Amino acid sequence: MKRFAVIGDPVEHSMSPAMHNAVFKKLKLDCSFGKVRVPKGKLDEKALEKLKEEYIGLSVTIPHKLAVVPLLDKLDRSAEMIGAVNCVDFKGGKAKGYNTDMAGAIEPLKAKLGKLKGKKILILGAGGAARAIAFGCALEGCEIAIWNRTESKAVELMEEIMKIPGAEGWDSDESATKPLDAIINATSVGMHPKTEAIPIHEDFLGPDITVMDIVYNPLETKLLRIARKHGCPTIDGLEMLVGQGAEALKIWLGVDAPRDVMRKAALKELKG
Ligand code: ATR
Repeated sequence: MKRFAVIGDPVEHSMSPAMHNAVFKKLKLDCSFGKVRVPKGKLDEKALEKLKEEYIGLSVTIPHKLAVVPLLDKLDRSAEMIGAVNCVDFKGGKAKGYNTDMAGAIEPLKAKLGKLKGKKILILGAGGAARAIAFGCALEGCEIAIWNRTESKAVELMEEIMKIPGAEGWDSDESATKPLDAIINATSVGMHPKTEAIPIHEDFLGPDITVMDIVYNPLETKLLRIARKHGCPTIDGLEMLVGQGAEALKIWLGVDAPRDVMRKAALKELKG
């Protein structure tokens, strides 16, 4: 049996085991997916070596997405660029790190917006999730703006993004003439228990703007509820979660995971 696990702290409420085990069952794969609590500061070379003996691959979550990077033998381009890893593959006796959050966010955006090149995207937030989304959008040739509560972090991230060949930011003149294509909430605003919070004023919303939220608890955030009222196409937080998991399964096992099965399993977990 091939064994996988998510490492992090806390991991009790991780939805990864449910999502992946549902795929293994559906595709009749002799695999299992568990969870291992690894406290902050406890992930070192020895710990990773032990995990390598037991597992084929790992999902990596808070607080290890950055800490795991220097422990790995190799980094995929996505992980190298973003500087964070959420997926480790132990194939061939080496530990290779990937960032599947990026593809996990970009796929649903493409599904709604079509080709992303030249699309104008406003990203709210400048933390880990915003980073993966911003790099992904820049690589697709989107025009990006980043707003964050702590402005200096948005400026820093934007400066990094602009180093990508072909990356485009907006200038203020253009933003007046060319309307936004998407707004992405990559902050935790609206997450349980503060579900009445919204990360942007609703005056910014309009029927031609796709609104994506990375928050999945609740699944319908106030932002998405109001966006739907304005006629905006919406992408909920489970899509990115399922997307990053499906991408990891492609890396580990080369399988094209049924996303509907993953989503259903995640929804069941959410409902408790
Ligand atoms: P993650 O890895 O999930 O992205 P993070 O790195 O802690 O988590 O980032 C959280 C993001 O949500 C940040 O952009 C944060 O803004 P700051 O950089 O100013 O901290 C944003 N955020 C969290 N709580 C917020 C709030 N109440 N209002 C506005 N932004 C908030």
